[in-house]
Amino acid sequence: MIEVHHLTKRYGRVTAVDDVSFRVERGEILGFLGPNGAGKTTTMRILTGYMPATDGRATVAGYDIFDKPIDAKKRIGYLPETPPLYPDMTVREYLDFVARLKGVPSKEKKERVTSVMARTHVADMADRHCGKLSKGYRQRVGLAQAIIHNPEVLILDEPTAGLDPKQIIETRELIRGLGGDHTIVLSTHILPEVAQTCQRVVIINKGRVVAVDTPDNLTARLKGAETMYVQVDSGGADAAPVLSALPGVVRVAPSEQRGTLAGYEVESERGRDVRRELARSIVNRGWGLLELRPMRMSLEEVFLQVTTEEIPEETPTDPGAQGSMDPRTEGEVPVA
Ligand SMILES: Nc1ncnc2c1ncn2[C@@H]1O[C@H](COP(=O)(O)OP(=O)(O)OP(=O)(O)O)[C@@H](O)[C@H]1O
Ligand SMILES: [Mg+2]
Repeated sequence: MIEVHHLTKRYGRVTAVDDVSFRVERGEILGFLGPNGAGKTTTMRILTGYMPATDGRATVAGYDIFDKPIDAKKRIGYLPETPPLYPDMTVREYLDFVARLKGVPSKEKKERVTSVMARTHVADMADRHCGKLSKGYRQRVGLAQAIIHNPEVLILDEPTAGLDPKQIIETRELIRGLGGDHTIVLSTHILPEVAQTCQRVVIINKGRVVAVDTPDNLTARLKGAETMYVQVDSGGADAAPVLSALPGVVRVAPSEQRGTLAGYEVESERGRDVRRELARSIVNRGWGLLELRPMRMSLEEVFLQVTTEEIPEETPTDPGAQGSMDPRTEGEVPVA
């Protein structure tokens, strides 16, 4: 639905977007994640036809945004970083105006404005002037104008910026509800947002794409070997030697001890799932198996890792290169 090929944007000597490529499938919600100044807004402005690129190309809903900008723009709803509201219009007048501008047929307009106001929870402000709205309401009216013509593609630049926690949850639900029918790209630097809303994530840093994957794979991928957390009630016995002796287990590190309960981090050979063996050996000894789960890096750790050092996009099969991606051999990730 959206294809971006080698997009580059230079402002004088600053390269804001540097050879960025990605695609978004129909109905998908893609998170565009990156620190301040990464190039998120610039990429979105180019995709929505608000700004030319220096190089590269992009298609939206089958239309090249540079060759067929009008056809492409008709199919896009855009929430810019600062919603483009007219201060002297009421919310209803403004949405009515945008609906007309975006070609909503006049007999459908009234109903469309009403339903969009309900969906974005702005109906109680329908007769308030846009200039007198709070930031959160401005943001929601911005979202309302983006979806008023029911576009196939939504490009949302930090849709939850400035919202209170309740509004954030409502907006995330709204966006999730729009996915499926709509193809959505949203930018954010809020990590729970991508984990909760997006099916796939593009992480961008200094204008370059540094990772593309599902939130789940991102957190799993950067882990070196597989590590499980196991909690056992062994009645006081040391379970470490038993777990270490299992085939495929590379290392066992005790992590906590409370009375007869003990937690262990069990590292296994890469790609080898030792959960069955772990469970069987614990239960066969008559011990209690209280917890058994894979340990993963948090999305936050992944984000810091990929934005503070560049990693290859594909996981290399060369064990040497793998080692350099292992957070445990890299030491602390510097936080700027
Ligand atoms: N009009 C402009 N002229 C010159 N440089 C610009 C302009 N707009 C953006 N830049 C630069 O381009 C880079 C990318 O900016 P952009 O606004 O796309 O980042 P962003 O990822 O949206 O950041 P944020 O999270 O702060 O919104 C930055 O270095 C910024 O300073
Ligand atoms: Mg921005």
